[in-house]
Amino acid sequence: MASMRAVVQDEFGGPEVLRLVTDVPVPQPIPTEVQVRVSCVGVNPVDGKTREGASVAPFMGGFPWTVGWDVAGTVTALGNGVSRFAVGDRVYGMPRFPYSAAGYAEYVTALSRHLVRIPEALDMATAASIPLPATTAYQIVHDVAQVRAGQTVLVLGAGGMVGSLVVQMAKKLGATVIGHATGDKLRRLERFGTDRGIGRGTDRGIDYATQEFDDPHLSGGPVRDVDVVVDLIGGDFALRAVPLVRRGGTVVGVPSGQQQGLKEAAAAAGIRGTNMIVEPDHVALEYVSAMIADGELDVQAPATARLEDVVDVHRRLAEGRLPKTVLQVGPNGRSADMARSADVLFRAAVDDDPVPPLPEDFAPANQAEAYEAQRCLADLTGRPRWGGRSRRPVLRASGTSMSTVPWPAGCWPIGSMTTTPPSRSQGTGCAWRSRSSCS
Ligand SMILES: NC(=O)c1ccc[n+]([C@@H]2O[C@H](COP(=O)([O-])OP(=O)(O)OC[C@H]3O[C@@H](n4cnc5c(N)ncnc54)[C@H](OP(=O)(O)O)[C@@H]3O)[C@@H](O)[C@H]2O)c1
Repeated sequence: MASMRAVVQDEFGGPEVLRLVTDVPVPQPIPTEVQVRVSCVGVNPVDGKTREGASVAPFMGGFPWTVGWDVAGTVTALGNGVSRFAVGDRVYGMPRFPYSAAGYAEYVTALSRHLVRIPEALDMATAASIPLPATTAYQIVHDVAQVRAGQTVLVLGAGGMVGSLVVQMAKKLGATVIGHATGDKLRRLERFGTDRGIGRGTDRGIDYATQEFDDPHLSGGPVRDVDVVVDLIGGDFALRAVPLVRRGGTVVGVPSGQQQGLKEAAAAAGIRGTNMIVEPDHVALEYVSAMIADGELDVQAPATARLEDVVDVHRRLAEGRLPKTVLQVGPNGRSADMARSADVLFRAAVDDDPVPPLPEDFAPANQAEAYEAQRCLADLTGRPRWGGRSRRPVLRASGTSMSTVPWPAGCWPIGSMTTTPPSRSQGTGCAWRSRSSCS
């Protein structure tokens, strides 16, 4: 049975219980599932809470287990009956939550309806930072609070991943939004979209470093009569927000297990107090994808770290000083993006379309990366790895001589601008952009 690398833990505990192993069986898709080769997996607060034995730990099954839900990768196999995807599709999602998705691994399987295609504009790393926070934001705004145009929404912890998405989705619906954050994050909330003329930044900011959101003497006037409060901080924040809500309004407490007494306090004030738990939801993620494709969602590129560095990443997560981070699962995070670029260039060359500009870091950095990208390219196109008669592009690292890279008949070497251009004879000296003159 094929095996893969994965991060496992055999007990609850701190970051040091996480171990990278190489002998985990590659999961196989059952009917309704797809198998995905993971390029990148996002790190979320729930990963750390579950590692410690809190949050969704009761639903993870027996040890050893693997945390991680936010996967972005390439479909490598389809279970019987799956029609939503093809092998080679780039997909992302938060499969199975709150059960285990075992996302910190080279391969996962997922119910096909727990995944959607990654928008063209998104690289794998950014894609992996999105599913769980964005699905949560969607379900808060659209399902739980049912925000409407003209309402006022107060977002506590608005500078974080979920908060910044809640702000943008509520603004899209026509709400007035008050964001509670500090520093650069507060400034970013004010800017959302404005540089593109969309104008969907927060209407008012509360800097938590200098102000209490429930201070009746708040500069700019006290916050009151809001329709919806979204608490992303926990502790007593949701309870403190209850008096600021108009009768009939809603307080949503999002951090799990920290909202004791919210329902009762809200009911006594004539409002609704509720928690929520996110569910895998392809409709929500399609909505998010459409917002991204339409340029309506400002999503920052996350920090990246190697799977090997997972203990350090979780240490910083536990200390509350981890910026949004995704783990690159082997070299294929970058390689998958390169493979995709190669495919786009290849198709353009075959169709004699204008050749799109090469991405800045298109060239593989070394031969190992070139091989890995080639493997991803085979997945992407559904073609054998070394193309035979299939006339697929071959990636090679700049600086490696052609003789060191297998170059099967019928394949065109492309990669950095210094590689041999496509030509029928596999000859040299033809400019990449003038394929027709080589024919
Ligand atoms: N129920 C569910 O299904 C569900 C789903 C997703 C997330 N969650 C939970 O929701 C919370 C937010 O998730 P996330 O991914 O958005 O996390 P995140 O990116 O870490 O954001 C959390 C935000 O809260 C702010 N914050 C923390 N303590 C604060 C305090 N004392 N005063 C003011 N602001 C404070 C942080 O501000 P700074 O950045 O300035 O430190 C940060 O911007 C987490 O607890 C997560 O576990 C629950």
